[in-house]
Amino acid sequence: MDWRLLPLSLIAACAPAPMIHNDPVVDTHSFSRPELVRVRHVELRLAIDFSAKELGGTARLLLERKDLFAPLRLDTKGLAIERVTGSDGKDRTHTLGKEDSILGQELTIELARTDAEVTVAYHTTKRAEALQWLAPAQTAGKKHPFLFTQGQAILTRTWIPLQDTPGNRITYEAWIQAPSELSVRMAAKEVGSAKDGRSHFQMDLAIPSYLIALACGDLEFRAISPRCGVYAEPSVIERASTELSDMETMVAAAEKLFGPYRWGRYDLLVLPPSFPFGGMENPCLTFATPTILAGDKSLVALVAHELAHSWSGNLVTNATWRDFWLNEGFTVYFEHRIMESIYGADRARMETLIGLMGLEDELKTLPPADQVLHIELWGRNPDDAMTAVAYDKGAWFLATCERLVGRARFDAFLTKWFEQHAFQSVHTADFEQFLADELYREPGELKRALQADKWIHSPGIPDNAVRPQSPLMAAVDAVLASKDALTPPAATTSGWVTQQWLRYLNGLPASITSAQMQALDATFHFTQSGNSEILCLWLQKSIRAGHAAADARLEEFLLTVGRRKFLKPLYEELVKTAAGKARAQEIYARARAGYHAVAVRTLDAIVLGK
Ligand code: BES
Ligand code: ZN
Repeated sequence: MDWRLLPLSLIAACAPAPMIHNDPVVDTHSFSRPELVRVRHVELRLAIDFSAKELGGTARLLLERKDLFAPLRLDTKGLAIERVTGSDGKDRTHTLGKEDSILGQELTIELARTDAEVTVAYHTTKRAEALQWLAPAQTAGKKHPFLFTQGQAILTRTWIPLQDTPGNRITYEAWIQAPSELSVRMAAKEVGSAKDGRSHFQMDLAIPSYLIALACGDLEFRAISPRCGVYAEPSVIERASTELSDMETMVAAAEKLFGPYRWGRYDLLVLPPSFPFGGMENPCLTFATPTILAGDKSLVALVAHELAHSWSGNLVTNATWRDFWLNEGFTVYFEHRIMESIYGADRARMETLIGLMGLEDELKTLPPADQVLHIELWGRNPDDAMTAVAYDKGAWFLATCERLVGRARFDAFLTKWFEQHAFQSVHTADFEQFLADELYREPGELKRALQADKWIHSPGIPDNAVRPQSPLMAAVDAVLASKDALTPPAATTSGWVTQQWLRYLNGLPASITSAQMQALDATFHFTQSGNSEILCLWLQKSIRAGHAAADARLEEFLLTVGRRKFLKPLYEELVKTAAGKARAQEIYARARAGYHAVAVRTLDAIVLGK
């Protein structure tokens, strides 16, 4: 009996847990068994219904059958399945399994011997966590509704029935019907609008399911170079394209570092502010929050980050969510390299240090088991892996490796990693093997110096980690350590850039009083800052110190911005006192309907204790 053939719930009930815990290969976040029957191509024919807030139509799945006796097992969550047909167009028996609150429901389809495909007719429901339907009031233009999808980590199954595991790669084609006054974008190649008014897209490079993405709204396009451009609502497009005018330079810099950009176009779509993330690396078309539009390009590292995923993540993909650090750690390292090559080492080092600041803060709150790169996620939401450990500890491990082997050799190593594993999904063990094959050949010296085992499988930060030196950050630290910490002289701060201000605000003493905050605000106008990172940090400090002058701005921010990274610390700070908690609940009651399901899951726990 192969226990892998059992439904997850049964395994949980009867298999000895350690057997599963220790299996590094199985994706415990999918019901599918692609090694038996594999979906290799998906055809979507969907209509967008803004009034019902539903997507409906068909998904035709082309199969590769490795075991002719095995049924097709798909992932679904909150989907209404209408009908399933086989190659001959006739009905196939299908069953929806028991609902798991994280994974959803397994859809099992009995295949006829000759079936090379199935077609599932279905529609989404109110429970489609991947979809956010925005009312016109939530957009910049206030006239048209907006829809976008967010697939990562395991949300694609809430709008498409498929094998929702990053261990399987598919190509796809889609025909999307939408209201004629709106434009439809997918993270794929546009094949040209079909005569019947449907938008037609094609992704002919094999991608994991979490990268399928769709957006629909009142969008305008502005070219930046022959292969790069920006989409945004008309009233935002000017600001967006000015801020993001370095996109082509970034792609060129990235190619120079680690090999050719393989996806054709690289465009970016600026979403309305309720987008729950900073950015999402959907292939050919990064989705991004408008909160990166600071006016001075100070927050464009996010673009470098999402672009870097075109190599680490989209080309070479984490095979399971336990291997998430292979996506994000590599990407943060790569992001810093892109930033360095365009904006210089000072800027890159400061951004690295900001990341380490966050990592060190977060390590204080994480249990040891969650401080390892190859994290255990059995029975958990893969979102739990989305901590600074995967991102900044992962990047720090690679930076350590670079320091020990030298940059030239490490660059060749990474280029080869991307090249050799292109369009594959990889496990942590694959990387460990690659390290051994490529870098440990000499008498064991590097292996000992690197301590890869410790980085990957132990909590905390190994003692071979070296912090980057940054004179610009040291200048801020000197002010913070001085008697003028709360009244920094203008001569010192006049040339400070965003990253220095972030370090400064982060370093303010916990004991700062509201009067001292008031004085700082009078000089530096933080409450009025148009830089979302600075504002968010300032608002956190304001809540803690009881700086009431920032109250209105805080409320406005919480009611318009849906980016979880900002909302989480703000609500967490608010609920620390009884009065703050009441205020948090009052604001949250009004704001919640405007937040994305991903943010709601996190915030319900903080604000409502759910
Ligand atoms: N791929 C992530 C976003 C993500 C991760 C969504 C896991 C869902 C599950 C994206 O590349 C990312 O890391 N975004 C960051 C910004 C980045 C500059 C650190 C974010 O959204 O804050
Ligand atoms: Zn990322």
